[in-house]
Order: sequence, then structure tokens, then C-alpha cells
Amino acid sequence: MRSRTRTAVAAAGMALALLASGCGADDGDGGAGSKKVEVFTWWADGGEKAGLDGLVAQFKTDCAQYEFVNGAVAGGAGSNAKQVLASRLQQSDPPDTFQAHAGAELSDYIKAGQIEDLSAQYKEWGLDSAFPKGLVDSLTVDGKIYSVPANIHRANVLWGNKSVLSKAGITAPATTLPEFFTQLDTLKAKGVATPLALGKDWTQQMLFEAVLISKLGPEKFSGLWTGQTDWAGADITDAINDYKKLLSYSNKDRDTFDWTDAEKLVMEGKAAYQLMGDWEAADLDAKGFKDYNYSVFPGNGDAYQWLADSFVLPKNAKNPEGTKCWLKTLGSAAGQKAFNTKKGSIPARTDANATDYPAYQQAAIADWAKGKPVPSCPHGSACSQGWQGAVASAQGKFSSDGDVAALQSALVAAAKQYAGK
Ligand code: BGC
Repeated sequence: MRSRTRTAVAAAGMALALLASGCGADDGDGGAGSKKVEVFTWWADGGEKAGLDGLVAQFKTDCAQYEFVNGAVAGGAGSNAKQVLASRLQQSDPPDTFQAHAGAELSDYIKAGQIEDLSAQYKEWGLDSAFPKGLVDSLTVDGKIYSVPANIHRANVLWGNKSVLSKAGITAPATTLPEFFTQLDTLKAKGVATPLALGKDWTQQMLFEAVLISKLGPEKFSGLWTGQTDWAGADITDAINDYKKLLSYSNKDRDTFDWTDAEKLVMEGKAAYQLMGDWEAADLDAKGFKDYNYSVFPGNGDAYQWLADSFVLPKNAKNPEGTKCWLKTLGSAAGQKAFNTKKGSIPARTDANATDYPAYQQAAIADWAKGKPVPSCPHGSACSQGWQGAVASAQGKFSSDGDVAALQSALVAAAKQYAGK
């Protein structure tokens, strides 16, 4: 687990070094007639890399005149990649395309004038009616559509080690938070070292949001991001207290862990549960681990906490025609299938055939059709990058000091500063 964390840091360090030397992955072959298409993501390993590889295989078929250049910077949820990207955009050295979350996070790039309008391509490629309207709305500002979605992920999923759970006599998922606490106590009493595996900042944000969804319900939770729900309320204090209790069942070294390090505790049977997005399905499969189960986070009911990876055409991209070929491929039915069957997500297109997908995604496709969509802040559908950073640092502090009042006032201040921006 240590080595994977080190790889991520090394990759980010290397990318920064390349940047400083002015030596981007696409250097030396830019300009008109360039064949290279540098695709910038944080999908460097496991199921994420498998998904990217699936899409690249389709790109090689559909866009044989171009050459894929992998600009991935490792680190879950873009924790390293987003910093590298921000510097590159600031220096007018964009990759040919990059991964951006649909919603408020994408709006950051639009407002900064860093990406191109793709409305004409939507018409040309027949994408207007390919995606759900709500999703296209989250890619649109002032009537212009700025990116092509690759998928829809679900964030609020609880993954469990089946053997660890059944040895503790747990055979059914908890459906409420009190039931979940009872299960965690049972696991602790049976000697499970870490009932609930957890990682650093953004993974803690995910766990806290799952608690908020249980406490507030989908509508009130969504209202936290639009100014409709008050962060200063007693129900938020209550949620922070429950979240604090959950932290007591987690690994003490959580602040040094990426999501894959926490996942490894589950795979090794040292932990029973982990709350994580459904990229975990693909990653466990890619790592050959089969002894797992999944359920919605206790108390979340049919809330489907969604996020979508989408790709853009940056202003001043070296190879805009190559980028368009990439975007056309990923928006196509074949591209979405090649990617999502390996990535753990479901296709953004509405014309996909569920039977093409592994069992997890078949269940997710059915849940998405009937569930209540709620957004995610750490994965950009709910809030801007500034807001994400403010919450991450408040939660990082809380992870060490456990000060409930301080966390709540930091969350109130963040909402005041960033809501509507
Ligand atoms: C992305 C996923 C990715 C996950 C973990 C999320 O923000 O949307 O594609 O698998 O982070 O890295």
C-alpha cells in the first residue's frame, strides 16, 4: 500500500518537473498536422487504467490517423492531477483534452475561459439527444455545451469484505445509520482491526456527505449546495457528531491513505467496510478480488449520488482536430461501452444495452433509472474547486482535532463564500 502512495506522489512530482522544464508530454510535435493527442486524466492504475485502456483501444480504431499520448497523473479524485493541470492552463500549455467533472467543477473552467464551446459538435455527432437532459444541463452555460460526458458514477456505495462480515455474523446490509453503528460495534467486538476503512481528505468528504444524505434526505442535502439548506442547522451538528463517531471505527493513519490504500485493507481482510464510489467495482475486479459485496450507504435509500467524468477541448490545444476525434469516440455508443464496461460506471448515453455490462453496473443502471439524483462536492457535481478545497481542509483539521463546532463554522463560512460562485 505504501508503494502505491509513493507512485502517486512520484508521478505528480515528475509531472511538475516536466512542467518546470517546459517539457510537456506532447512537446516537439505540436502545431498543425500534429498526430499526437495528449489525454490528461488521473486514471493511472487498476480499474481506472483498465477503463482508459478500453477507450484508447476504440480511439485507435476510430481515429487511426492520430496517436494517443497518456498524460495521466496518479492520485485519487485528481488530488495531484488538478494542481498540475491548473499550472499548465495558467501557462497556456494545455493538454489536448482533460478530464473534468460535470457540474460546478466544469463551470470553473468555463468561467475562466479555458475551454471551447462544443455545441456545433453535439449537432454534428448527434449527441443532442444521446444523453439525459439533466446531465447536458450540467455541461451547459448560457446555452453552450462545453464537454462530452464519458459516464455516470455513483459515489454513495458501501463495499464490504464478505468473509469478514459473515465471520462476524453479518449477513445483510444495514439500512439505517443506527443499524450500521450496531454492525460496526459487532465487528469491533469480534476483533476486526478496522471496521470501516478510510483515506484522506476527499474520501472523508465522501463519508461525511453520505452521513448528511442519511440525516437530511436527498432534497435537503441537494439544497446545501444551492443555498436552500442552512449549514448552521442543528441537523448538521447532529450529522457531524455521527460522522465523528464513524471516524472512531476507522484506521488512525487515514490522512496518509489514498482510496486504494483503504481498499487494500478491505481486500486483506483487515477492514470490513469502505464507503467509496463505484470505480471500486472495477478496481476490485481488475485486482482479481471477488470476495466483496456492495450496498447503498445505510440510510441513503434510493438517493443516487452522481458524478460524471467529461472531456473538454481546451483553448489553445495543440491538436484540436485530434481532440475532436477523441471526443467523438468517447461520446459514441461503442466508446461508452468500451470504457464503462471496465470502469465501474454506467454509460452516460441512454441507448446502452444493460446486458453488455457486468453485474454491478446492471444493478446501477436499474438504480439510476428509479433513484433520486443528488450531487457530490468532492467530485464536482455539487460545488466549485474553491469550495471543494475549503471543505477538504476543514475536514482534514477535523480528522485530527474532532472539534465539531469548528468544523460546522468552517462549513458555514465556505458556503457563504462559494455558494452561487
Ligand atoms: C472520478 C473517477 C475516479 C475517482 C477516483 C473521481 O473523481 O470521477 O473517475 O475513478 O475519482 O480516482
